[in-house]
Formats: sequence, C-alpha cells, structure tokens
Amino acid sequence: MCQLDQSSSGLQKAGEGSSEDLQGIRTAIRNKYAEVAISAAGKFQYPTGKDGAITLGYDPDIIKSAAPSLLASFCGVGNPFSLGTLQHGEMVLDLGCGAGFDLFVASKLVGDSGRVYGIDLTDEMVARAKNNLANSNSSNVEIKKVDSESIPYPDDNFDAVISNGVINLSPCKDICFKEIYRVLKPGGRLQFADVVLKSALPAGLSGSLEAWSQ
Ligand SMILES: C[S@@+](CC[C@H](N)C(=O)[O-])C[C@H]1O[C@@H](n2cnc3c(N)ncnc32)[C@H](O)[C@@H]1O
Repeated sequence: MCQLDQSSSGLQKAGEGSSEDLQGIRTAIRNKYAEVAISAAGKFQYPTGKDGAITLGYDPDIIKSAAPSLLASFCGVGNPFSLGTLQHGEMVLDLGCGAGFDLFVASKLVGDSGRVYGIDLTDEMVARAKNNLANSNSSNVEIKKVDSESIPYPDDNFDAVISNGVINLSPCKDICFKEIYRVLKPGGRLQFADVVLKSALPAGLSGSLEAWSQ
C-alpha cells in the first residue's frame, strides 16, 4: 500500500495500487477526529479528557494549570513523559498532536529556550491546538497540518519525538518510523504510547474503516 520515494526534502510517501484504501483510511480518521476536536467524551473505550490525564499519571500541577479546552479533547492512550523527562532547551516533535495537551506539557518542560513542534492530519484538531496553545501563552510551540509519513522538518533536527495513540492509526507505519528516525538527532529519543493488537481481529472488524480509527 505504501511506497517510498526519496526526495531532497526527505522520504515522501507515494500511494501504490491501493491508494483508494489509503485515502479511505485517512478520511475515516479525519472524520472521527474532527468530532473528537470538539470533545473526546464518550468517543473511546478508555478514560479521556481530564480523567484520562489523571488516570495516566500526568503531573497533577500541569493538569491543574491546563485550560479545560486543552483537556476536553485529550485522548492519549498512555503517558509519553513517563518514559523520561524532557530537558530545558530541547527541540521536541509531537506526532499527531491532537488538540495540544501533550504539546502544552512539553512546552512547560523545555521552557523558553526549547521549542516544541506539533503535527496532525485533521484540520479541526490543528485549529483547536493552535487556539489552545495561543490561549495558554505557549510561545515556544509551532503547529502544522501534515501527515506523520511526510514530516516537514530537516534530518537530525529533534532531541525527542513524542507521540500518543497515533502510530497505530498510520497505514504506513514503516514509513512513519523511518521519518521519525530521519528527523531525530543522533542519540535522540522516541517516547511514544500506543495500542497494539494481541490477537487477530474478529472477521467483522478486520476490514472496517471505523474500527481502524477507534
Ligand atoms: C488518539 S489521538 C491523540 C491526540 C493527542 N496525541 C492526544 O494525546 O490527545 C490521534 C491523533 O492523531 C492524528 N493522526 C492520525 N493519523 C495521523 C497521521 N498519519 N499523521 C498525523 N496525525 C495523525 C489524529 O488526527 C488525532 O488528532
């Protein structure tokens, strides 16, 4: 389904054969997360929003300092910061930043001398994240609408890449990981939380676009 095409700006994805499948998956994801951008409440089978952040062990002081609109669409499946803290001054990329709660956390950890970049596939999430981060006076954050399989940053650019519940949604995971590796500095870290299948999906779900974007 996915093929690599080497270009001067890095690896770019080219759909081959099943580009309709690829488009179908992206459309299903965008439709689902356009709704989640309004609120994650009731849209997942795990705790989301403020309850999710508390359950996943995020720093209570940071949760307290986050505006309700930053938390309302939070639908992370884990806590990337539990894998190691970010340092002041670091360059960080959040892959699939959603409405921006992890960007907000990262922005506090890297401080004014650091910089945090968020990318996301869904227009509504990007708009929400830009609004949320502007309202929280996070001046060290930049957000772009882009696909995680064609990251618009140079090689060896980031100290850390974080991601929370996103890579499982990619139909081109091998390209996604190659892109992450490309933009990480030598010795850089990938800290991600995600969901994995432990056994085969029931027949009724395995071809379902709705199930893909759950
Ligand atoms: C489970 S949400 C996680 C959002 C955020 N990390 C959080 O913790 O709230 C998944 C996000 O990934 C985005 N997404 C899904 N596939 C993507 C892709 N291939 N490239 C970029 N973003 C993607 C969706 O639009 C959605 O905002």
